[in-house]
Amino acid sequence: MATSDIVLAIRIEHRNFARLLDILEQQAQGLEREGRLDQDLVGAVLDYFVGYADQCHHPKEDLVYRKLRALQEDAEAEQGDLLEEHEELERVTGRLADLVRETRGQASPADDRLATAMRRFLGFYRDHMGKEESQLLPAAERLLTANDWKSIEFDLFDKPDPVFDPAAEQNNQALMTRILAMSGGRDARSPTASAGGGGGGLGEAASLAQFNDAMAEHGLGARLSRAAEGGYRLAAPEGTLVTIPELGEAEAVRCAIYFLKGQGSLP
Ligand SMILES: [Fe+2]
Ligand SMILES: [Fe+2]
Repeated sequence: MATSDIVLAIRIEHRNFARLLDILEQQAQGLEREGRLDQDLVGAVLDYFVGYADQCHHPKEDLVYRKLRALQEDAEAEQGDLLEEHEELERVTGRLADLVRETRGQASPADDRLATAMRRFLGFYRDHMGKEESQLLPAAERLLTANDWKSIEFDLFDKPDPVFDPAAEQNNQALMTRILAMSGGRDARSPTASAGGGGGGLGEAASLAQFNDAMAEHGLGARLSRAAEGGYRLAAPEGTLVTIPELGEAEAVRCAIYFLKGQGSLP
Protein backbone atom coordinates (compact mmCIF):
# COMPACT_ATOMS: atom_id res chain seq x y z
CA MET A 1 0.00 0.00 0.00
CA ALA A 2 1.29 3.43 -0.93
CA THR A 3 -0.21 6.77 -0.22
CA SER A 4 0.53 10.33 -1.11
CA ASP A 5 0.23 13.90 0.09
CA ILE A 6 -2.43 14.23 -2.61
CA VAL A 7 -4.76 11.91 -0.67
CA LEU A 8 -4.15 13.96 2.48
CA ALA A 9 -4.88 17.19 0.60
CA ILE A 10 -8.10 15.74 -0.90
CA ARG A 11 -9.29 14.59 2.55
CA ILE A 12 -8.59 18.00 4.09
CA GLU A 13 -10.43 19.70 1.24
CA HIS A 14 -13.40 17.38 1.78
CA ARG A 15 -13.54 18.51 5.42
CA ASN A 16 -13.59 22.11 4.30
CA PHE A 17 -16.30 21.36 1.73
CA ALA A 18 -18.36 19.54 4.38
CA ARG A 19 -18.16 22.64 6.57
CA LEU A 20 -19.34 24.82 3.69
CA LEU A 21 -22.16 22.41 2.89
CA ASP A 22 -23.28 22.63 6.52
CA ILE A 23 -23.40 26.43 6.19
CA LEU A 24 -25.45 26.05 3.01
CA GLU A 25 -27.80 23.62 4.75
CA GLN A 26 -28.39 26.11 7.57
CA GLN A 27 -29.23 28.69 4.91
CA ALA A 28 -31.64 26.28 3.17
CA GLN A 29 -33.35 25.66 6.52
CA GLY A 30 -33.64 29.41 7.14
CA LEU A 31 -35.22 29.82 3.73
CA GLU A 32 -37.67 26.95 4.22
CA ARG A 33 -38.71 27.89 7.76
CA GLU A 34 -38.56 31.68 7.78
CA GLY A 35 -38.08 32.74 4.15
CA ARG A 36 -34.69 34.18 5.15
CA LEU A 37 -31.47 33.80 3.20
CA ASP A 38 -28.09 35.50 3.45
CA GLN A 39 -27.51 35.81 -0.30
CA ASP A 40 -24.00 37.23 0.08
CA LEU A 41 -22.99 34.28 2.21
CA VAL A 42 -24.57 31.71 -0.12
CA GLY A 43 -22.99 33.48 -3.12
CA ALA A 44 -19.55 33.36 -1.46
CA VAL A 45 -19.92 29.65 -0.67
CA LEU A 46 -20.85 28.94 -4.29
CA ASP A 47 -17.93 31.09 -5.49
CA TYR A 48 -15.70 28.83 -3.42
CA PHE A 49 -17.11 25.71 -5.02
CA VAL A 50 -16.77 27.22 -8.51
CA GLY A 51 -13.28 28.60 -7.86
CA TYR A 52 -11.78 25.90 -5.72
CA ALA A 53 -13.66 22.64 -6.11
CA ASP A 54 -14.00 22.87 -9.87
CA GLN A 55 -10.58 24.40 -10.57
CA CYS A 56 -8.28 22.85 -7.95
CA HIS A 57 -9.94 19.92 -6.20
CA HIS A 58 -11.63 17.85 -8.90
CA PRO A 59 -8.61 17.93 -11.26
CA LYS A 60 -6.54 16.22 -8.55
CA GLU A 61 -9.17 13.50 -8.19
CA ASP A 62 -9.45 13.16 -11.97
CA LEU A 63 -5.75 12.30 -12.18
CA VAL A 64 -6.06 9.73 -9.39
CA TYR A 65 -9.17 8.23 -10.98
CA ARG A 66 -7.60 8.06 -14.46
CA LYS A 67 -4.57 6.24 -13.07
CA LEU A 68 -6.80 3.86 -11.15
CA ARG A 69 -9.00 3.18 -14.16
CA ALA A 70 -5.92 2.32 -16.22
CA LEU A 71 -5.05 -0.36 -13.65
CA GLN A 72 -8.47 -1.58 -12.69
CA GLU A 73 -10.88 -2.43 -15.47
CA ASP A 74 -13.92 -2.42 -13.23
CA ALA A 75 -13.12 0.97 -11.59
CA GLU A 76 -15.83 2.64 -13.64
CA ALA A 77 -18.36 -0.10 -12.90
CA GLU A 78 -17.58 0.15 -9.19
CA GLN A 79 -17.35 3.90 -8.81
CA GLY A 80 -19.27 5.25 -11.79
CA ASP A 81 -17.64 7.71 -14.15
CA LEU A 82 -16.07 10.23 -11.81
CA LEU A 83 -14.97 12.48 -14.67
CA GLU A 84 -18.57 12.81 -15.85
CA GLU A 85 -19.76 13.38 -12.31
CA HIS A 86 -17.29 16.27 -11.91
CA GLU A 87 -18.58 17.85 -15.11
CA GLU A 88 -22.14 17.47 -13.84
CA LEU A 89 -21.18 18.99 -10.46
CA GLU A 90 -19.68 21.96 -12.26
CA ARG A 91 -22.94 22.47 -14.19
CA VAL A 92 -25.10 22.02 -11.07
CA THR A 93 -22.96 24.52 -9.11
CA GLY A 94 -23.15 27.07 -11.93
CA ARG A 95 -26.93 26.67 -12.24
CA LEU A 96 -27.43 27.15 -8.50
CA ALA A 97 -25.19 30.25 -8.49
CA ASP A 98 -27.29 31.65 -11.38
CA LEU A 99 -30.52 30.90 -9.54
CA VAL A 100 -29.26 32.66 -6.39
CA ARG A 101 -28.53 35.74 -8.49
CA GLU A 102 -31.84 35.59 -10.40
CA THR A 103 -34.03 35.22 -7.33
CA ARG A 104 -32.30 37.98 -5.38
CA GLY A 105 -34.92 40.04 -3.60
CA GLN A 106 -37.86 37.92 -4.82
CA ALA A 107 -40.27 36.27 -2.41
CA SER A 108 -41.95 32.82 -2.75
CA PRO A 109 -42.44 30.88 -4.93
CA ALA A 110 -38.86 31.81 -5.92
CA ASP A 111 -37.89 30.78 -2.37
CA ASP A 112 -39.33 27.29 -2.87
CA ARG A 113 -37.44 26.85 -6.13
CA LEU A 114 -34.22 28.01 -4.55
CA ALA A 115 -34.60 25.86 -1.43
CA THR A 116 -35.29 22.81 -3.63
CA ALA A 117 -32.23 23.55 -5.77
CA MET A 118 -30.07 24.00 -2.65
CA ARG A 119 -31.29 20.67 -1.25
CA ARG A 120 -30.47 18.93 -4.54
CA PHE A 121 -27.02 20.49 -4.60
CA LEU A 122 -26.37 19.41 -1.00
CA GLY A 123 -27.50 15.85 -1.67
CA PHE A 124 -25.45 15.54 -4.86
CA TYR A 125 -22.27 16.94 -3.28
CA ARG A 126 -22.51 14.88 -0.12
CA ASP A 127 -23.17 11.66 -2.05
CA HIS A 128 -20.27 12.45 -4.35
CA MET A 129 -17.80 13.10 -1.53
CA GLY A 130 -19.05 10.07 0.39
CA LYS A 131 -18.35 7.87 -2.64
CA GLU A 132 -14.87 9.30 -3.03
CA GLU A 133 -14.11 8.78 0.66
CA SER A 134 -15.48 5.24 0.70
CA GLN A 135 -14.36 4.05 -2.75
CA LEU A 136 -11.95 6.24 -4.71
CA LEU A 137 -9.45 7.06 -1.96
CA PRO A 138 -9.30 3.59 -0.34
CA ALA A 139 -8.95 1.96 -3.81
CA ALA A 140 -6.21 4.43 -4.74
CA GLU A 141 -4.34 3.76 -1.49
CA ARG A 142 -4.74 0.00 -1.99
CA LEU A 143 -3.76 -0.23 -5.63
CA LEU A 144 -1.49 2.64 -6.62
CA THR A 145 2.24 2.20 -6.18
CA ALA A 146 4.78 4.80 -5.12
CA ASN A 147 5.68 5.19 -8.81
CA ASP A 148 2.02 5.76 -9.74
CA TRP A 149 1.83 8.54 -7.15
CA LYS A 150 5.03 10.09 -8.42
CA SER A 151 3.63 10.16 -11.92
CA ILE A 152 0.35 11.72 -10.66
CA GLU A 153 2.31 14.34 -8.71
CA PHE A 154 4.40 15.08 -11.78
CA ASP A 155 1.24 15.56 -13.89
CA LEU A 156 -0.23 17.85 -11.21
CA PHE A 157 2.76 20.10 -10.90
CA ASP A 158 3.17 20.15 -14.67
CA LYS A 159 -0.31 21.61 -15.20
CA PRO A 160 -0.53 25.28 -16.10
CA ASP A 161 -3.98 25.65 -14.52
CA PRO A 162 -4.57 26.65 -10.89
CA VAL A 163 -4.07 23.17 -9.43
CA PHE A 164 -1.69 23.72 -6.53
CA ASP A 165 -1.06 27.25 -7.78
CA PRO A 166 0.02 29.19 -4.66
CA ALA A 167 -1.77 32.41 -5.70
CA ALA A 168 -5.04 30.55 -6.37
CA GLU A 169 -4.65 28.67 -3.09
CA GLN A 170 -4.16 31.93 -1.21
CA ASN A 171 -7.18 33.56 -2.88
CA ASN A 172 -9.34 30.61 -2.03
CA GLN A 173 -8.01 30.50 1.52
CA ALA A 174 -8.92 34.19 1.85
CA LEU A 175 -12.42 33.45 0.52
CA MET A 176 -12.82 30.58 2.99
CA THR A 177 -11.76 32.85 5.86
CA ARG A 178 -14.28 35.47 4.70
CA ILE A 179 -17.08 32.87 4.49
CA LEU A 180 -16.36 31.64 8.02
CA ALA A 181 -16.34 35.23 9.30
CA MET A 182 -19.63 35.96 7.47
CA SER A 183 -21.26 32.81 8.82
CA GLY A 184 -20.25 33.82 12.37
CA GLY A 185 -21.81 31.57 14.99
CA ARG A 186 -23.88 29.83 12.34
CA ASP A 187 -21.00 27.53 11.39
CA ALA A 188 -21.68 24.50 13.56
CA ARG A 189 -18.00 23.58 13.71
CA SER A 190 -15.43 26.26 14.34
CA PRO A 191 -12.37 26.24 12.09
CA THR A 192 -10.11 25.64 15.05
CA ALA A 193 -12.17 22.71 16.27
CA SER A 194 -12.11 21.09 12.84
CA ALA A 195 -8.39 21.72 12.54
CA GLY A 196 -8.00 18.93 15.04
CA GLY A 197 -6.01 21.00 17.47
CA GLY A 198 -4.24 19.41 20.34
CA GLY A 199 -5.14 22.23 22.75
CA GLY A 200 -2.92 24.86 24.28
CA GLY A 201 -2.69 27.04 21.16
CA LEU A 202 -2.05 24.31 18.59
CA GLY A 203 -5.71 24.26 17.49
CA GLU A 204 -5.59 28.01 16.90
CA ALA A 205 -2.34 27.88 14.92
CA ALA A 206 -2.81 29.20 11.40
CA SER A 207 0.72 30.24 10.51
CA LEU A 208 4.09 28.50 10.55
CA ALA A 209 5.27 30.71 13.43
CA GLN A 210 2.17 29.96 15.53
CA PHE A 211 2.47 26.24 14.81
CA ASN A 212 6.16 26.16 15.72
CA ASP A 213 5.59 28.22 18.88
CA ALA A 214 2.79 25.85 19.95
CA MET A 215 5.02 22.81 19.30
CA ALA A 216 7.76 24.35 21.44
CA GLU A 217 5.24 25.12 24.20
CA HIS A 218 4.15 21.47 24.17
CA GLY A 219 7.78 20.35 24.34
CA LEU A 220 7.48 18.65 20.92
CA GLY A 221 10.42 18.65 18.52
CA ALA A 222 8.57 18.84 15.17
CA ARG A 223 8.93 22.07 13.18
CA LEU A 224 7.18 23.18 10.00
CA SER A 225 9.02 25.27 7.41
CA ARG A 226 8.88 26.25 3.75
CA ALA A 227 10.77 23.79 1.54
CA ALA A 228 13.27 25.19 -0.94
CA GLU A 229 11.70 23.11 -3.73
CA GLY A 230 8.19 24.44 -2.93
CA GLY A 231 5.61 23.30 -0.42
CA TYR A 232 6.46 22.68 3.22
CA ARG A 233 8.58 20.32 5.28
CA LEU A 234 7.57 18.96 8.65
CA ALA A 235 10.77 17.87 10.36
CA ALA A 236 11.80 16.38 13.69
CA PRO A 237 15.36 16.62 15.04
CA GLU A 238 16.09 13.22 13.44
CA GLY A 239 14.99 14.35 9.97
CA THR A 240 12.03 15.03 7.65
CA LEU A 241 8.72 13.53 8.78
CA VAL A 242 6.62 14.49 5.78
CA THR A 243 6.59 16.92 2.89
CA ILE A 244 3.40 18.88 2.27
CA PRO A 245 2.43 20.12 -1.18
CA GLU A 246 2.02 23.81 -2.04
CA LEU A 247 -1.03 24.91 -0.06
CA GLY A 248 -2.03 28.03 1.83
CA GLU A 249 -0.09 28.34 5.09
CA ALA A 250 -3.12 27.61 7.29
CA GLU A 251 -3.87 24.48 5.22
CA ALA A 252 -0.26 23.32 5.57
CA VAL A 253 -0.52 23.77 9.34
CA ARG A 254 -3.68 21.66 9.36
CA CYS A 255 -1.90 18.98 7.28
CA ALA A 256 0.93 18.93 9.80
CA ILE A 257 -1.50 18.64 12.73
CA TYR A 258 -3.38 15.77 11.05
CA PHE A 259 -0.13 14.03 10.27
CA LEU A 260 1.11 14.26 13.86
CA LYS A 261 -2.27 13.14 15.20
CA GLY A 262 -2.18 10.19 12.78
CA GLN A 263 1.27 9.30 14.12
CA GLY A 264 -0.05 9.41 17.67
CA SER A 265 2.30 12.28 18.47
CA LEU A 266 -0.52 14.59 19.54
CA PRO A 267 -3.32 14.04 22.04
FE1 LIG B 1 -14.85 14.85 -6.61
FE1 LIG C 1 -13.72 15.31 -3.88
